[in-house]
Amino acid sequence: MTGIMTEKTALSVRDMIVTFDEYVALDHVSVDVATGESFGIVGESGSGKSTLLRAVAGLNRFDSGALAVDGRSYSSGRRDKEFYRTVQMVFQDPYGSLHPRQTVDRLLLEPLVIHGFDDIDVRIARALDEVGLGAGFRFRYSHQLSGGQRQRIAIARALILEPKILLLDEPTSALDASIQAEILNLLEQARKDRNLTFVMVSHDLGVISHMCERVAVMKSGKIVETVPVEALEKREFSADYTRQLLVASEGFRRG
Ligand SMILES: Nc1ncnc2c1ncn2[C@@H]1O[C@H](COP(=O)(O)OP(=O)(O)OP(=O)(O)O)[C@@H](O)[C@H]1O
Ligand SMILES: [Mg+2]
Repeated sequence: MTGIMTEKTALSVRDMIVTFDEYVALDHVSVDVATGESFGIVGESGSGKSTLLRAVAGLNRFDSGALAVDGRSYSSGRRDKEFYRTVQMVFQDPYGSLHPRQTVDRLLLEPLVIHGFDDIDVRIARALDEVGLGAGFRFRYSHQLSGGQRQRIAIARALILEPKILLLDEPTSALDASIQAEILNLLEQARKDRNLTFVMVSHDLGVISHMCERVAVMKSGKIVETVPVEALEKREFSADYTRQLLVASEGFRRG
């Protein structure tokens, strides 16, 4: 036991450091996310938000620190199969994250086969239904889909493995506002239905306050502060940097 997690902690990151050559991209980052919680991460470009998600997902190594998921500790290196099923990541750009020349069927089938699931037809039908795309989409190619439809497939591909944690890196920022709202509602419904835990990066504080219970504010690889989202709305935060982000975000939305 590391003593850093309780039964109700889905994700615990302790003193994580990630460097790229000499550059310190994550500098002693610690985060605890409760099971079923939706936890937001905000911060200026280059502050280390994606690096944190990628290090948790096992897509980046970390130099030092501790990581525990669902009560199990993991090192920086390769994780076991159960980890890769339990923790799923959804990226900003569904054009980059889904192979364009594969059918939806193939995209959804592959993770099921890798993880040895049965009832494949039933699971694919259910997954398409859950993300609001009917059976008619099953044999379409991903290059034939709109951005919003692709992101639904990316989410279906993550959910089909019955994960516990979704790492969402700007999942809707490449989409139109109306599509963005639909995708956020879909994610929120999935979280409720499955008691999922979310860690969501967004530059949009409106999205964060709609979707998350707490938010960590990052700057230069460090977490400046972690506050409940109500604190953002009431402007109860301690760091000047958070204030600047808020002003920048409001300016952006008004413009
Ligand atoms: N594989 C890599 N090799 C070298 N440097 C990297 C690598 N990945 C990230 N970095 C650097 O680490 C820093 C943090 O990058 P990161 O992608 O985590 O920022 P971010 O907060 O997600 O920014 P954005 O909001 O623009 O997505 C940046 O300076 C980036 O250039
Ligand atoms: Mg990023």
